[in-house]
Amino acid sequence: MRVGVLTGGGDCPGLNAVIRAIARKAERHYGDSVIGFLDGWRGVVEGEFIEIDVNHMRGTLPRGGTVLGTSRLSPRMYDDGIDRVRATMETTGTDALIVIGGEGTLSAGVAVCEAGAANVVGVPKTIDNDIGLTELTFGFDTAVGIATAAIDRLHTTAESHDRVMVVEVMGRHVGHIATWAGIAGGATLTLIPEEPFDIGAVADAIVRRHQRGRWASIVVVAEGARPKEGTMELPQPETDQFGHVQLGGVGQAVASEIEARTGYDTRVTVLGHIQRGGTPSALDRVLCSWYGIAAIDAVHEGDWGSMMAFRGGEIVRVRLADAVAELKPVSPALYDVARAFFP
Ligand code: F6P
Repeated sequence: MRVGVLTGGGDCPGLNAVIRAIARKAERHYGDSVIGFLDGWRGVVEGEFIEIDVNHMRGTLPRGGTVLGTSRLSPRMYDDGIDRVRATMETTGTDALIVIGGEGTLSAGVAVCEAGAANVVGVPKTIDNDIGLTELTFGFDTAVGIATAAIDRLHTTAESHDRVMVVEVMGRHVGHIATWAGIAGGATLTLIPEEPFDIGAVADAIVRRHQRGRWASIVVVAEGARPKEGTMELPQPETDQFGHVQLGGVGQAVASEIEARTGYDTRVTVLGHIQRGGTPSALDRVLCSWYGIAAIDAVHEGDWGSMMAFRGGEIVRVRLADAVAELKPVSPALYDVARAFFP
């Protein structure tokens, strides 16, 4: 077979590890040839690709980013995008397309597959961990590790100066990174999109903690966290060229409010793309290798429209359309664990 691969959306650690695993089993076990489309769906729509083999992927297991490049372009952004995908599949002789991406990239995969333009198999990627029907997307564990390490560092400087430290982490619609890193890092409070916050209650909680003699506080805020309606103003986010809302600013806004309401010295740290860069964790390397092997197996079983999912300690297949139908929120039970440590 001739198998195409693309990586779309925001990058994350582990993309290369997935491609490497696909190349390995495709070439050594199935005798396939593999091509990698450049910059996500752009490469498919515009017919730009490179040949991928085991040698090409050597040494890439620990390397962050993606050797294929990525973008947020989707066939739906072109008038004739789906037809162009079909044409690329035909001219390149590509029998199957493994789509590695988050919600936007995978949804485009559903559209392409349902239109019969390509035989699609999906792999769930995103540091946000917000794809449905899988307990873990790859990249998430690495991001949580980076955020936790940052919080650990902020504890000591916060304690030295008796300061409140607000840490803004990624998580546009859901607060998985914030919740996990907040629990792992021993945060005082964690604010997530799923639970609109009351800034007055946030300030009161910090004052309560200070009254008990604990001067330093760490407040973890997911970039998509929002105040309860009418309680606080946030800066209006901008939109990039792909119509993707650029979040950010909630950490600064929360820090300013805390300082104004409590009088405590407050600083903000925005972790931003540091959470997406660099080498994948050991867990992500294993998960990515497993996802890649499972994806090429699904291709050889002709399981089009399937997505690899991590459930109950195994990789299983779910329907891609079902997985992207709804984003996966933080489990209320897990958020209650974080909440148990709030002042
Ligand atoms: O890929 C997910 C993500 O990292 C989100 O957590 C974040 O909001 C967004 O991407 C940032 O996108 P960009 O890199 O395009 O600014």
